[in-house]
Amino acid sequence: MSDATAKKEERRKFQAIKGTRDIRPPETALWNRVEQTAHEVFATFGYGEIRLPIFEPTELFARAVGGETDIVSKEMYSFPDRSLDAPAEILTVLELSTYLSGIHSAIEDGEIRRTEQNAKVIDRFLKEWEVFPAELKKQQGVVDISPLVPRLYTLLRAAQDVFDSVSLRPEATASVCRAYLEHGMQSLPQPVKLYYMGPMFRRERPQKGRYRQFYQIGAEVLGGTDAPAIDAEVIEMLMAFFDKLGLQGATLYINSIGHNADNCRRGYIEKLRTELAKIKDNLGPDSQRRIDTNPLRVLDSKLESEQPYIEKLPRIADHLCPDCAAHYAEVKRQLQVRGVLYQENWRLVRGLDYYMRTTFEITAPGLGSQNAVCGGGRYDGLVELLGGPPTKGIGFAIGEDRLILSLQECGKGQVQQGRDVYIAWMGEKAYAAAIHAAKDLRKAGFSVELPPLEQKFGKALGQADKLGAKYALILGDNEVSEGLWTLKTLSTGEQAKFPEPDLLEFLRQQKNVSS
Ligand code: HAM
Repeated sequence: MSDATAKKEERRKFQAIKGTRDIRPPETALWNRVEQTAHEVFATFGYGEIRLPIFEPTELFARAVGGETDIVSKEMYSFPDRSLDAPAEILTVLELSTYLSGIHSAIEDGEIRRTEQNAKVIDRFLKEWEVFPAELKKQQGVVDISPLVPRLYTLLRAAQDVFDSVSLRPEATASVCRAYLEHGMQSLPQPVKLYYMGPMFRRERPQKGRYRQFYQIGAEVLGGTDAPAIDAEVIEMLMAFFDKLGLQGATLYINSIGHNADNCRRGYIEKLRTELAKIKDNLGPDSQRRIDTNPLRVLDSKLESEQPYIEKLPRIADHLCPDCAAHYAEVKRQLQVRGVLYQENWRLVRGLDYYMRTTFEITAPGLGSQNAVCGGGRYDGLVELLGGPPTKGIGFAIGEDRLILSLQECGKGQVQQGRDVYIAWMGEKAYAAAIHAAKDLRKAGFSVELPPLEQKFGKALGQADKLGAKYALILGDNEVSEGLWTLKTLSTGEQAKFPEPDLLEFLRQQKNVSS
């Protein structure tokens, strides 16, 4: 690297990685309000919070969400659990032996799982390791490794594959099911109702409302019955949450995609495939590909030119088995009983493989093309797919970033900002009194700004204004010796003098009046 390039590198300004962003004050106050409301509303429905790891084995998501889905096949951030990149070429004995010792200690520490496939590589490695020259193991000395080279290469390549791949979670339903099994939650009273919130990661093309690190608030109901009342109550809770936040114009879409049987979804998919084959030439390349891989996803297409053809395709509602049809009818009836308005959308199939029967999505205004603020559905086979007993499951996840955007768009994004009290002090004695006043006010729950340096009162009041303070407490040495403190209401300019103990009481009363 030339000196100039090195200098340029040094001066490099770091920026958040594409698709990620900093959520800053005052907006974070709105995020906190949304999250606090979720805690409160979900608790009233008997849900408990679960905090999950940010990364999990790649295999968990591949199995749960589906290896063929966009999320797993294109969008996951995956990496080997332990990165021991083999040297591209064996350049030095030191490099080689460092790498091999790394693998050896990973085996010793049990960091390489002894799966059937790994076991062969591990055993072979340990056998070879036994006969490697001691100097090589100790990473010292001059050793002629040329006779070992071909064997080493094969071994190195195999060793690369034995480290588990982990992924930043693209969603959390798979993790909740994993946790349900891992902690034997089947033995708790069923169903188990859990909710979570936090960041998810998908390597999508960023745009308004679509990020690579985004945040979800989700809930899952696991175990017990699959009674339609559960589906309806999950949706009712969701709508109660949006209602409490004051979100306006949210629309709930529902559908049933049946279950995986010949007389239900499987039979429908075959019919769909046959019909799609007939109109193949009128479809775009994505949909053409999906005729083979996942015909249901064609229904999701937003491509303008395909719409007239898709509208004429057979509809799943006409192909549900009697049980799924009855379940769907009862979900709708239960929603009506609960006063939840919905629209049916036969094209709502969702982009994750684990769904069956009820699926739903909620759109909200002000979001442009990424207008789904929540998605969810029933996934009765998922726990079993992850190695557990047959278990019913249903849940949803809200895109928190989008929810915030929509709240801001509909004018419900304001949160109280600024300080309650700015303490304008001048003089040594006043400063000591100011410190005590700040302590007492903060203890009583007021937000207080205590400037660290003395300022002229005029400047201090200007600063109080800029920070959006409601009151300025004016403390000079006179006020302190008189024991009468001056409180200025900044919006009106009114001033009043209070003995110290009355001040707190006055502020308390004012707060009660305004809240
Ligand atoms: P999902 O539809 O993939 O479902 O995501 C749920 C919501 O997360 C979406 O409706 C959207 O609001 C938000 N979202 C997804 N991707 C992004 C992104 N790149 N940027 C911003 N927001 C995004 C699930 O994740 C399922 N686990 C939901 C579920 C829970 N089903 C059953 N239980």
